Amino acid sequence: MSKKRIGLLFGMEDTFPWALINAINERGGDSVEASPVEISWLKDDGVFAYDLVLDRISHEVPFYRTWLKCAAASGVKIVNNPIWWSADDKFFDNLVAKAANVAVPRTALLPHKQYPPNTEAKSFRNMKWVNWDELFAYLGWPVFMKPAYGGGWKDVYKVHNPDEFFAAYDQTRDLTMMAQEAIEFELYYRCYVLGRKRVRIMAYDPKQPFHLRYVKNPPPMDPAFEAKIHRDAVALCEGLGYDMNTVEFAVRGGIPYAIDFMNCAPDADLNSVGRENFDWMVTNMAEVLIELVNEKKKLELTGSWPAVMRTEKDIREPIVPR
Ligand SMILES: Nc1ncnc2c1ncn2[C@@H]1O[C@H](COP(=O)(O)OP(=O)(O)O)[C@@H](O)[C@H]1O
Ligand SMILES: [Mg+2]
Repeated sequence: MSKKRIGLLFGMEDTFPWALINAINERGGDSVEASPVEISWLKDDGVFAYDLVLDRISHEVPFYRTWLKCAAASGVKIVNNPIWWSADDKFFDNLVAKAANVAVPRTALLPHKQYPPNTEAKSFRNMKWVNWDELFAYLGWPVFMKPAYGGGWKDVYKVHNPDEFFAAYDQTRDLTMMAQEAIEFELYYRCYVLGRKRVRIMAYDPKQPFHLRYVKNPPPMDPAFEAKIHRDAVALCEGLGYDMNTVEFAVRGGIPYAIDFMNCAPDADLNSVGRENFDWMVTNMAEVLIELVNEKKKLELTGSWPAVMRTEKDIREPIVPR
């Protein structure tokens, strides 16, 4: 029998892909091998050379995204699901979190500050003026503003009053922005979640410069609290169907609030995450990919959220956990 082939599709990162390829090949024996994906122009016949592709870069390269969608439809397993990743956004995912009984900050979606290309005032005849007082009363202060299709701290603002809010909003061009209650946290965690079941909880201090954010020797966690974080992290990745993700929680009054949990190509660079986290990520990702490439699984368009959301509920009633 020929070996199953795992391909890695990646961009500028240097440490993680090579370490992962080596880790897969050390474990793959006669049955699985890994290498960088080779891509040229794509023929429209649905023929691909890999059984599984790990995608680290298609959010930056639309050509790769189409390649991956076609590969998925042709029977290649893709981590993470390029079809759902193309549809996903952070505001929608907060609804998924609520249905999965994970606490999230109060959040609102804002109309574009500037007209998107090819639109003008007449394009927006469905819109009513926003009642800002009502919005601010719902969120309280301070507020975080961030794009619904965002990542990497780009266009993220923390604002403390209406003046700061509008000064930030004025800079957001035609982005689709969310405004979110700021969680004034006592603790903050970032978790790797792999294969929707393997969780590494890392104490994280987002207020430090990048290279100091992963807290060295954090105090031990209370077992019940650790189990809660673990449960919530898995529930989010199950709901969204992501096999490689990071989930961040800000803890206020002992409650973990999910802040950022749509990171389908999470940072795994040795120089930022540190040796221990890096080694855990490489080993566990290698094991997960070998499991996945051997699994018989039908094409999945999304995670489990359609079964978790109560789409049969009265539309006038808010979402509650199933
Ligand atoms: N609601 C919030 N409460 C507290 N801190 C927040 C909140 N939203 C964002 N932050 C802070 O801002 C950082 C960047 O926001 P995040 O949602 O992670 O955006 P990105 O996807 O761009 O990383 C987070 O790591 C966190 O430190
Ligand atoms: Mg983030």
